[in-house]
Amino acid sequence: MRTRIAVFVSGGGTNLQALIDAEKKGQIPDGELALVLSSRADAYALKRAEAAGIPTAVVSRKEARDAADFEEKILSSLSAHGIEMIVLAGFMSILSGDFTARFKDRILNVHPSLIPSFCGAGFYGLRVHDAALAYGVKVTGATVHYVNEIPDGGQILLQKAVDILAGDTPEILQKRVMEQAEWILLPKATAMVAKRIRDEKTEK
Ligand code: GAR
Repeated sequence: MRTRIAVFVSGGGTNLQALIDAEKKGQIPDGELALVLSSRADAYALKRAEAAGIPTAVVSRKEARDAADFEEKILSSLSAHGIEMIVLAGFMSILSGDFTARFKDRILNVHPSLIPSFCGAGFYGLRVHDAALAYGVKVTGATVHYVNEIPDGGQILLQKAVDILAGDTPEILQKRVMEQAEWILLPKATAMVAKRIRDEKTEK
């Protein structure tokens, strides 16, 4: 059976769209997008999931009593859908060490810089590109890595460099990093890990 994947989102979901398109093209042969879980009810990513016929769930951090309650709700949704692997694609909540330990080497994240630059708590979305431009680096990029208890600290799977050009704004740079790196790396890494998990099951 193909590896059942949940994609966690909080916003626009362009990385989710890249995964949906890759699955349609047969580029994730060992995985199946089985659930899209959003931390926000108004995330546009949910519309993309619905259009692709993927089941959705909303678990709001604000409506949860605390972090433990939030994660319990997520876990019960994952088990209801038989999820074996998680892809964080613009998910804006940090998961606890307890949570990440349950899915050791089964959670991926895409981060819009070359880790270890411009990463860790507080570096997300446009803030990452803002920081890269403020520092004056000439090359940035994206990283796909396993998720552990350290924000952006898990083992790196794939990275790709992207040039910074004169006149870049955070918005322009974000778009270039997505087009030239994130949307390519994330489906590729997802396919790799889905295959590894499927192979582990058949070996048993
Ligand atoms: C992406 O650039 C992703 O790398 C970033 O948020 C954006 C989500 O866009 N994630 C982080 O900054 C995580 N630290 P999307 O919703 O269009 O995929």
